[in-house]
Amino acid sequence: MDTTIIIIIAFILIIALIVVIQFKQNKKEGGNRVYNEYEDAISYILKDKNLSNFKRDDSYRAKLEHVRWNEGLIYLGLIRKEMGLSDSEIMGYCSLNDSVGDPILKQYGNLHISPTSLRYIYHAHLIFTQCKLVGMNNIDFVEVGGGYGGLCFALHHFADKYKIRIKSYTIIDLANPLELQKRYLKKFLNHAHLKFVNASTFGKNIHTKNMFLISNYCFSEISPENQHNYIKYLFPKVKHGFMVWNFIEPYDIGFDTTIVDEYPQTGKTNKYITF
Ligand SMILES: C[S@@+](CC[C@H](N)C(=O)[O-])C[C@H]1O[C@@H](n2cnc3c(N)ncnc32)[C@H](O)[C@@H]1O
Repeated sequence: MDTTIIIIIAFILIIALIVVIQFKQNKKEGGNRVYNEYEDAISYILKDKNLSNFKRDDSYRAKLEHVRWNEGLIYLGLIRKEMGLSDSEIMGYCSLNDSVGDPILKQYGNLHISPTSLRYIYHAHLIFTQCKLVGMNNIDFVEVGGGYGGLCFALHHFADKYKIRIKSYTIIDLANPLELQKRYLKKFLNHAHLKFVNASTFGKNIHTKNMFLISNYCFSEISPENQHNYIKYLFPKVKHGFMVWNFIEPYDIGFDTTIVDEYPQTGKTNKYITF
């Protein structure tokens, strides 16, 4: 055989091998290609032991900490109207949550806040409202895709207001985001019962039953194969839940769901899904 042909075949084989290895690695971590850059950004962020300014990192903000001022204004209005929170109660959470990672703060009258923190407060309210509706007051939460842990912190911060006891809170995520969440939440929640589970297991080894599931901007944006694995391994241990669904049309995930448009609408087809 001609040497040039042998070199071309060898080259094609090497490329194919690299593609297969990367695919397997990605699958092993339970992640999507779309999250590779995000995971890299977090591995860089984790080198800073004080997590001093990760909320300003552009690669990080491509996925998180990117709620706009006008969306924040709507969340603030909803928080005041539906939750009846005073400005000092709002700042009670926001000043703590915004004290780590140096987020870009926006002005709302006298308040200087990250709009993302306002979103976490409002989502906490929607979640507790659903818990009350289905009669859950002592709750084992499981969150698929926990960001830096801001929602977990908001739920713990406001639970008493709803007379809800958080028995345990499990976050399932990729390796680097889990490490970020551990370090972040340690700054605020020393007495909470937090558990961190690698996404590669899809919750197979969780033995708690009747959990309340949360998955905001995550379950709907991971690969169909990963979604299927969560439905197979995690969902049988879930009783009720709340999701913010993005990117794809909602489909039957095995629960009796109620679906309404997200408000404010932060993505064209985003929905709130409760069950
Ligand atoms: C867009 S962020 C949303 C984070 C958070 N829920 C929020 O509302 O701010 C998506 C999250 O899903 C996580 N994630 C990506 N792939 C995942 C997987 N296969 N299983 C669990 N979490 C995953 C990311 O690390 C990230 O924490």
